[in-house]
Amino acid sequence: MMRKTTFSSLVVGIALAVPLAQAKERIALKSVSVTFPQSKNSLPDGPGLATVQSNCLSCHSAGMILVQPPMPQTAWAAEVAKMRNVYKAPVDEKDVPTIVRYLAAVKGPK
Ligand code: HEC
Repeated sequence: MMRKTTFSSLVVGIALAVPLAQAKERIALKSVSVTFPQSKNSLPDGPGLATVQSNCLSCHSAGMILVQPPMPQTAWAAEVAKMRNVYKAPVDEKDVPTIVRYLAAVKGPK
């Protein structure tokens, strides 16, 4: 009985000591410096840019817009409607014309 208890204490002791010894090592934190690359996929400047940035970049990057072929204003209006109706983009109705005008200006037929 006595031997069993001693053995159990030993097992518990080792079980507790191992994670404690490892924990001591894991706590040593180091500072690192990371420089992120600049994205080349930023939207060009133009009237309405801020509105587009705040409404259209929460789910995907600007690249999703920039890779599209040039489209007329009606096609961009349909695209914004799709974002709102199909993907439930929380775009305020009053911001839609500004967004559509911006998109047609920067990605419209030349
Ligand atoms: C609620 C999330 C959400 C928001 C906000 C959002 N989109 Fe999207 N968008 C999506 C999803 C999801 C896709 C489809 C991604 C895929 O096919 O991989 C997509 C795809 C696109 C595409 C690619 C063509 C297509 O129809 O699939 C364009 C262009 C686009 N979005 C433009 C916009 C514009 C402009 C806005 C702002 C009015 C906007 N998105 C806001 C979710 C969103």
